[in-house]
Amino acid sequence: MILSIDLEVKNGGILLTTHPSKDIVGTKGKELKGSHIVLCVTGSVAAIQSPEIARTLMRHGAEVFVVMSSMAQKIIHPDLMEWATGNSAITELTGKIEHVALAGEHPGRADLVLVAPATANTISKISCGIDDTTVTSVVSTAFGSQIPIVIVPAMHGSMYNHPILTENIKKLETLGVEFVGPRIEEGKAKIAETSEIVDAVIRKLSVGQDFSGFHLLVTAGPTMEHIDPIRVITNRSSGKMGIAIAEEAVKRGADVTVVYGSGSVAPPSEASTIYVETTEQMREAVYTELKSKKHNVLIAVAAAADWTPKKPYPYKISTHKTSSLNVKLKPTKKIIDQVKKVSPNTFLVAFRAEYKLPKKKLIESAYKRLLEAQADLVVVNDIGKKGAGFGTETNEVLIIDKEKKVTHVPLASKREVAKKILDVVNEKIRPK
Ligand SMILES: Cc1cc2nc3c(=O)[nH]c(=O)nc-3n(C[C@H](O)[C@H](O)[C@H](O)COP(=O)(O)O)c2cc1C
Repeated sequence: MILSIDLEVKNGGILLTTHPSKDIVGTKGKELKGSHIVLCVTGSVAAIQSPEIARTLMRHGAEVFVVMSSMAQKIIHPDLMEWATGNSAITELTGKIEHVALAGEHPGRADLVLVAPATANTISKISCGIDDTTVTSVVSTAFGSQIPIVIVPAMHGSMYNHPILTENIKKLETLGVEFVGPRIEEGKAKIAETSEIVDAVIRKLSVGQDFSGFHLLVTAGPTMEHIDPIRVITNRSSGKMGIAIAEEAVKRGADVTVVYGSGSVAPPSEASTIYVETTEQMREAVYTELKSKKHNVLIAVAAAADWTPKKPYPYKISTHKTSSLNVKLKPTKKIIDQVKKVSPNTFLVAFRAEYKLPKKKLIESAYKRLLEAQADLVVVNDIGKKGAGFGTETNEVLIIDKEKKVTHVPLASKREVAKKILDVVNEKIRPK
């Protein structure tokens, strides 16, 4: 799929749209598939290499967002970086708080911040914790969110040999920042080769590609059942938990397919998404997927509607002609019940939402569901708890396995909870 971005804070993340420059994404490799990289460009002549760095990262699968200092904009034009990446370059900070949208502590944040080229000025400011430019503000924010930072210095030899700069680089290295290069040539501290920079980024991000080669099927969001062509029965699910799992799985190298009901957040662009409306459509889509492709794992997060009208009206029910309405409901078919029959080797993770139950009862009811569906794991949350369940940015869950071992994931962002769930899945599906 061809993609592009106009930076927009949406549900704490970044909204992607289409742009033809993105047709190169993944043409050289998949090592960075699913990764969002912020490329910060500062005022060095080596900025002429930044478009090539951006496009090489993209060819290895990354989505690149550019942030430029004012001095960088005197050396290369932001339009060039927009052409290179398919995303408009950030040239100033505005009310959209671009530094937070890109690198703040939220589920949609970038995976890595790369400063290439980095001037002596920007390196020293970063090491002193100063943030007075677009670039230094993004890097400061990334530090606080523990996003990996890679810095690629480029400057004249005499600037590079300044003892305070040497000290500042050492200080940043002790804080975990990775430096690439420079190449000392012709009295200059030249920017490292593009291949060296991209290799360093791949190395830094490939820690944690534990789902590489795995096919994951995720159901997400609510489904809806029609009473008439206009009115529906649905539930309060937002799709955020399922999408957080899909995003995390993509980041960890999985090939992800999402069967998505009508949730309010966008699925990751790197996943294949099948949009459905009703529980029956979701059930059919899941079984078709399981039959047509070897999915190693199915994580059934969707809150499929449990009830559907026995006889939906084929026309709009008029409130003028009808003073009361009785709608008879019948239960929908449970999606997960036949999964093991259709695809016995798919590792099945069921999800269950309960309301204000004591922990013991929560575990009992979830475990019963695990046995009924022959699931391998069940994740249960009590949506009556503050900050947990439908529509929230956070969740708190219990993960229960076939041996009834319970892992408690305390209240955390849905992305963090997704991480923990995938850690447990990974532990179980790895051959011992
Ligand atoms: C044409 C030109 C080339 C420059 N090249 C470099 C360079 O390679 N490295 C560097 O550290 N500074 C270089 N500078 C100086 C920086 O642009 C200057 O220190 C500026 O304040 C950096 O701002 P920034 O770090 O916010 O981009 C250059 C300046 C000009 C005008």
